[in-house]
Amino acid sequence: MKASSAAHHPNPAPFPRLHVNVDHVATLRQARRAEQPDPVEWALAAEAAGADGITVHLRKDRRHIQDHDVLRMRAAVTTLLNLELSLDPEIVAFALGSGADAFCVVPENRQEVTTEGGLDVVAERARLSSLIPRLAETGGLVSLFVDPDFAQLEATAELGAPFVELHTGTYANAAGDVKARELERLVQAAARGRALGLRINAGHGLDYQNVAPVAAIPELEELNIGHSIVARAVLVGARAAVQEMRAAMALAAPERS
Ligand code: PXP
Repeated sequence: MKASSAAHHPNPAPFPRLHVNVDHVATLRQARRAEQPDPVEWALAAEAAGADGITVHLRKDRRHIQDHDVLRMRAAVTTLLNLELSLDPEIVAFALGSGADAFCVVPENRQEVTTEGGLDVVAERARLSSLIPRLAETGGLVSLFVDPDFAQLEATAELGAPFVELHTGTYANAAGDVKARELERLVQAAARGRALGLRINAGHGLDYQNVAPVAAIPELEELNIGHSIVARAVLVGARAAVQEMRAAMALAAPERS
């Protein structure tokens, strides 16, 4: 277990920690079923540039991250390794033996281009109530990826998961008044989650332009950001792409203090 001590305490920093999702480095590699680019090598570059953690999603269809990537990642990552997993029994079995420092349970369907929304914790209560303690027994931190919806937050708190990751994809994809409303939903959900005793992360669809208002939400401890950083890194390299994202998040610091 290599979890940094910061991962076990509410975030004292003036803006959330940045966890970089490296899935799409593997997407590029899998386009040719080749060895490069290596998501592990890239994760280490992201850590060196200031990432507070590394996130990977082992999908059932193995479209990007492969089993061996997770194991190599576990051996190499020195910050915090967060593994996203679905409720699929094969993926769950792999996750339990992965040695990851943190787990985020996500919905998954084969046709989707990317995770399309939060987990229906209310409908999946039975499977989650057995999974959460099994994941926690490994020593990993457990989070459920949920929409900013009070019923989902209440169900998560009842099940005893310590963290939620709020799905920011609807906010990220919206424009104008709808975007403002979606941001307000995230603000309200973060406050409600904290009142329920949950610790709050967020992610999905965040980029250099839309991250600051989310990073300003005071309850948020950690943001998980992947596609925009990997896309930017193709142009400017991993180091600059991660540092630019940290700078974009830091714009929120005065609002959180
Ligand atoms: N959080 C969760 C739970 C996700 O499934 C993903 C996508 O894998 C992300 C965050 C990162 O999303 P993006 O790649 O759009 O930044």
